[in-house]
Amino acid sequence: MEDKIRILLTEEEVNKRISEIAAQISKDYEGKQIHLICILKGGVFFTCELAKRLTVPVSLDFMSVSSYGADTKSSGVVRNVKDLDEPLSGKNVLIVEDIIDSGRTLSYLIDVLDKRGPASIRLCTLLDKPERRVKKQVKVDYTCFTIPDEFVVGYGLDYAQKYRNLPYIGVVEFEAGE
Ligand code: IMP
Ligand code: MG
Repeated sequence: MEDKIRILLTEEEVNKRISEIAAQISKDYEGKQIHLICILKGGVFFTCELAKRLTVPVSLDFMSVSSYGADTKSSGVVRNVKDLDEPLSGKNVLIVEDIIDSGRTLSYLIDVLDKRGPASIRLCTLLDKPERRVKKQVKVDYTCFTIPDEFVVGYGLDYAQKYRNLPYIGVVEFEAGE
């Protein structure tokens, strides 16, 4: 059955905001090179759109982590599924995420990546759901949109691996009782 999806942020709104954030990041990193770390799979669309708009030199790497939320395990466990190809030593790392929810994924990533000796680590996310934060210490440097506690898809975000390719951000309208 088709899920009903309500548009929360149009493609134009998302792209405009990414351009603004890219301009801000380019300014903050003037004279430096940014090492973008895309968190697969959700971060892939945002990373590409962001990277295209950065005016400072950029290198790219990819990492995949899997998180088990509080609904399956009370503590929340994050597992490293695919590690980076390149070392981080001396690099200005910018982690690019699709969404920050509990904050467990990013809290784990910062712990792991900080030990590899980067010159700096900052975080950039397309969406933030602050109401859901468990790891309160996670500091986000660049946020495109702060959204309410709703399940969203599109622009890389999935529901059971579907809808990542939607060019906008939508809310899945679950049937009552589902
Ligand atoms: P965390 O709870 O901050 O660790 O978020 C972990 C991951 O959960 C995100 O990177 C997304 O892949 C996924 N996630 C959280 N909220 C949503 C949502 O509303 N839609 C789709 N995926 C989500
Ligand atoms: Mg993700």
